[in-house]
Amino acid sequence: MNSQKIKVETIRAMKARGEKIAALTAYDFPMAKLLDEAGVPLLLVGDSVGMVVLGYPDTTHVTMAEMEHHTRAAARARPNALLGADLPFKSYETVSDAVANARRLIAAGAEFVKAEGGREILQQVKAIVGVGIPFMGHLGMLPQNVLEEGGYHIKGKKDEEHQRLLADAKALADAGAFAIVLELVTPPVAKEISQCLSIPTIGIGSGLDCDGQILVTHDLIGAFPWFTPRFVKPKVNCAAEIRSAVLIWKKDMSVR
Ligand code: KIV
Repeated sequence: MNSQKIKVETIRAMKARGEKIAALTAYDFPMAKLLDEAGVPLLLVGDSVGMVVLGYPDTTHVTMAEMEHHTRAAARARPNALLGADLPFKSYETVSDAVANARRLIAAGAEFVKAEGGREILQQVKAIVGVGIPFMGHLGMLPQNVLEEGGYHIKGKKDEEHQRLLADAKALADAGAFAIVLELVTPPVAKEISQCLSIPTIGIGSGLDCDGQILVTHDLIGAFPWFTPRFVKPKVNCAAEIRSAVLIWKKDMSVR
């Protein structure tokens, strides 16, 4: 296990060395500790917590208070991994809100913040970076826009979308983002963006040519069996293990 504290520079250096960056979500103390012990260098308190832990239909219901609560829990694991947190829906509409809410997540224990969008949030990104808070971008399918877009759609198929993604990625990098998540971006476009930028891209459902990959841990371990994205193949079936452990325990108590 790597006992060196991972910093933003470590993540950037991994791209320079051509080393793939593994990233996973962690919303609480035990998961942050387990994933850290497994050597995952990048952990995210994603607003996906709203769906896989809090039971909301999408991420637009997640509040700042909920993000702070889960960030505090994950940060108590004191991971070697770099720990980030999502700015939730409508928490970064103005520059002053973006900076104030980014500061709240840092006070809760995050070491970087992530927000969704490209050039439309550039002033917010510059202000966050300007006060010394590391920033991770998020382009492609933006889950906080799911209601207005009517679902989770692959991005970059049309030339206009392709050019917009490329320009947004370059703008975020120029504004000081240290990495960018590419969600549901068509693989050739994700590859092109990854090759154009000196900062790492972290893909989710965007093919294998990103500099790293991120998954919602619940999807990876089969802990949210009611929905699994098409691009994830769970490596274990935690839901089945839980059900079976409970059945064994119930049976044991009746055979005394
Ligand atoms: O909310 C989240 O968990 C995310 C990642 C999966 C990229 O944004």
